[in-house]
Amino acid sequence: MKNNRERIALIGFMATGKSTIGPRLAKRLGYKFVDTDEMVEAAMEMKISEIFEELGEVVFREKEYLALKEALEMKETVISTGGGIILFERNRKLLSENAFVVTLTSHPRIVYYRVKGNEKRPLLKKNKNLWRSIQKMMSEREVYYNICDLKVATDRGSANKCSEKIVAAYNKES
Ligand code: S3P
Repeated sequence: MKNNRERIALIGFMATGKSTIGPRLAKRLGYKFVDTDEMVEAAMEMKISEIFEELGEVVFREKEYLALKEALEMKETVISTGGGIILFERNRKLLSENAFVVTLTSHPRIVYYRVKGNEKRPLLKKNKNLWRSIQKMMSEREVYYNICDLKVATDRGSANKCSEKIVAAYNKES
């Protein structure tokens, strides 16, 4: 049996609500909240966009893996992850073995409006056709986002409502 009763990991494409829902969910459960992107930024003392620009994506992915490993050792914790974390087998294995994994989903149009004009996301910044690259990346990653214990659509319904749904499913499984 999975040793996953002590933490919830939120996965999903960029701008699907992981860092909005994560803290609310943690509060509801009386859990801590951590975000792997923030852990990487703190460890490197650099912004994600600077890490991509100055050191490259490979370095970021290595640091992201270390952050995930560290987060999955914490008890009673909600973990928000970066959208690309599921691209790596090592991360998928860690996640499925150590957390109740929740995928947040949003329609690509909604993601588009949320990220448009936002400079924070290096992988979207470098593409000229934002709409097309969101669609392409989402469909390439879909197979990995499907590996989860629960899926919650965040297009409609408040962050609180989404958290409620997650808590109900999590409690039912424990
Ligand atoms: C990434 C998503 C970002 C961040 C990095 C790479 C991705 O996190 O980890 O820019 O590959 O999808 P968010 O999903 O929080 O935007």
